[in-house]
Amino acid sequence: MTTTTTWDEKSQQFHGGQDWAGLANFVEDFSVTTNGLGTPKDALAAARQAVDLCDHYPPANQEPAKSSLAEFLWPTTWRENHGRLLLGNGASEVIDLVVRQAPAGKWKPGPFAVQYKEYERSALANGRELLPATDDAPAAIACIVNPCNPTGDYQPLAAMKEWIETNVQDGGYAIIDESMQPWHSENFRADSLVSQSAYVADLHARRGISVFVIHSWTKLWSCTGIRLGSIVCPTDAHCQALKKIQVPWSVNCVALAFLDRVVRDADYLAETWRVTPAWRQQTVAALRERFPGWRCYGEPFLSWVWVDIGDAQVAERAVGLARAAGVPVRSGLPGYQKPTFVRIAARQPEKLAVLLKAWQPLASE
Ligand SMILES: Cc1ncc(COP(=O)(O)O)c(C=O)c1O
Repeated sequence: MTTTTTWDEKSQQFHGGQDWAGLANFVEDFSVTTNGLGTPKDALAAARQAVDLCDHYPPANQEPAKSSLAEFLWPTTWRENHGRLLLGNGASEVIDLVVRQAPAGKWKPGPFAVQYKEYERSALANGRELLPATDDAPAAIACIVNPCNPTGDYQPLAAMKEWIETNVQDGGYAIIDESMQPWHSENFRADSLVSQSAYVADLHARRGISVFVIHSWTKLWSCTGIRLGSIVCPTDAHCQALKKIQVPWSVNCVALAFLDRVVRDADYLAETWRVTPAWRQQTVAALRERFPGWRCYGEPFLSWVWVDIGDAQVAERAVGLARAAGVPVRSGLPGYQKPTFVRIAARQPEKLAVLLKAWQPLASE
């Protein structure tokens, strides 16, 4: 079974991360953007313990995990911001909630060549007309993934504000996906829209534009299987409107216990900021040395590299060779329609060596 057969592509959006289970020789999943350090151990232990309580419903108010995440996002001002935060069963759930809730009208993506597709999928499923990224017209709902998965582009705060103000019409929704932003550095909060409460309130007062910030926590804390995401709304009232259309208990007791513990794991994050750019840099250097014609894209702090192999057939061979060696990578073709590209996770050197060995036959092509 491969990625292309696990998805029902007539009705579901393609994503990476499905090959590993079918590979008898599986070594490492390079097809996802998760943290190469693996799941934080203490949080995993807390999640395991929570399974013992699965004969009880999880708390409907998502506490105390929600307060813990609020304190992680706003260490000094979390109490006043807490009412704007809602957890979801993965970012995927809150993406769908907010796209459903947005005012009627056209949808548009961020300015990058391609971006993570769930926003578009949800807009289409809700019968919205799509504008291309190149269209100058502002939209009722504009969604930008920043840093952008898969291209690795990143717009700092000032550019983000400008993008919002030009691409969202008065009374519209701006949805910013910052799932990969905490990788930025230990000072990630300073460059995040989450820290811009006064700006968000001002924009809402001035133009009626509602700014939402979404995080998938399944990447930073490598827990895609337990499903964990959040949304920061512009006001408490926006948050309550989303809660009204949210399925009750969508975040289960295992995910809540995991979150409550993981936000306290400062060592894990410090290690993340230390090793990820190093592993990424080693990946880029190794590819440049072996394949001088390939082009690597993305910010140095990110947990993956977006690689243009330059030839669709070679890219297809690269995907096949990687999968056969137990180290699947994400093809740029399904979903993103970028057949010459592959996306490779930043992983430790021993794992990278397996991928590079699998690609040795390509060096002569
Ligand atoms: C940018 C981005 N946002 C959201 C998601 C969805 O994540 P989740 O697993 O939390 O539903 C992903 C998953 O790949 C992603 O890359």
